[in-house]
Amino acid sequence: MGPGEILDKKREFIIPCLNHFYQEPVQFVRGRGQYLYDSNGRQYLDFFAGVSVINAGHCHPEITARICDQVQTLQHVCNIYLTQPIVELAERLAGITPGRLQKSFFCNSGSEANDGAVLLARAATGRSELLALQDGLCGRTYLGMSLTGLGMWRTDPNPAGGISFVPNAYCYRCPLNLNYPGCDLACAEAVAQVIETATSGGVAALIAEPIQGNGGIITPPPEYFRRVKEILNKYGALLIIDEVQSGFGRTGKWFAIEHWGVEPEIMTVAKALGNGVPIGAFIAVPEVADRYTRPGSSTLGGNPVSMTAGLATLDVIEKERLAENAAELGASLKGQLLELKDRHPLIGDVRGLGLMLGAELVKNGQEPAATETDRVLELMKNRGIIIGKNGRSRNVLAFQPPLVIDGGDVLEMLRQLDDVLTEVEGK
Ligand SMILES: Cc1ncc(COP(=O)(O)O)c(C=O)c1O
Repeated sequence: MGPGEILDKKREFIIPCLNHFYQEPVQFVRGRGQYLYDSNGRQYLDFFAGVSVINAGHCHPEITARICDQVQTLQHVCNIYLTQPIVELAERLAGITPGRLQKSFFCNSGSEANDGAVLLARAATGRSELLALQDGLCGRTYLGMSLTGLGMWRTDPNPAGGISFVPNAYCYRCPLNLNYPGCDLACAEAVAQVIETATSGGVAALIAEPIQGNGGIITPPPEYFRRVKEILNKYGALLIIDEVQSGFGRTGKWFAIEHWGVEPEIMTVAKALGNGVPIGAFIAVPEVADRYTRPGSSTLGGNPVSMTAGLATLDVIEKERLAENAAELGASLKGQLLELKDRHPLIGDVRGLGLMLGAELVKNGQEPAATETDRVLELMKNRGIIIGKNGRSRNVLAFQPPLVIDGGDVLEMLRQLDDVLTEVEGK
């Protein structure tokens, strides 16, 4: 069709809440490894991986072959019948997730996983109140949206009640106007204050991304989650860690929360587990999981094709040492982004871990440079490189490539970014 006709049909047939990047978008028709190809056959280096999904690279031959084989063998029966891939993937997740996380429930998306995790926390504690972080994103369902701390994604004007927000560890723009480390982690201490002042005291759980993706790759100080967990323990509240965006090798470990040695009672996953196939899950420690005994099912959750995609993806991430690659290349990329920051006033902050990195663009001090961010994205695309953006003010460049990239890809992206920043700064 080409981009023009697709845009026309999108206007006519797609509900307009669905936006797209770029003033002049291209039509992607093919992907392989770290590359995408448009309808004119032009190659792009993908540094966004479909928003942290394609960790093993586009159309990985082993994953594709195993999915095709499963589609031709048994596609669906519903989880009211016994099949093998669902228990295999659950066992595999129990093996790679931190601490005593063991029992999984499979669904089809990150939003659904977070909804289900909250239901489980409520069933396990007999409590209903919840805590969430400012700038966090939980999903598009009614409850997910209500737990989301980003105004732009809180579309419903009457969100669910019983949810209190706590200030996040956004050190570049501290919500408490303090400076780390002199702040003594006041944002973590605020969890206790919020429980004491905004709730009945009986909170079921706090849900948090270990690194806030849509919030702008907001990365907390290393001690933050340990302190938050101690406070939650004191009040008998559970910790739900949302690894939907940060999971499966992206930050240099299987899961981002492992960087800080904290063991949540419930974890949610989606996106990269399927490497492009719809999938979601929540996994819990046995004593929490075992409290969910009333009937619960998802027609397509746990279907053999998604489960096979998950198993194949985990095999590839392990075999190709993609978490190790993310750690190594991520450290190099972050170092070089910090060097760019020294030369480009537009970059106000660089943050993240592994290949989940962000550069916040600012002007006149710390004023969010949203228009400039869009311009950088467009010019990078015109030079054949796809990067992402996020943040409360949509002014954070997101670098979340497939984990199969190599050092040459990092250098090429940085070379182009350096030029583009110079152009946008009007130097
Ligand atoms: C951290 C986080 N949680 C949940 C979601 C929702 O996932 P989904 O879009 O698969 O419903 C997202 C989506 O971007 C996310 O980044």
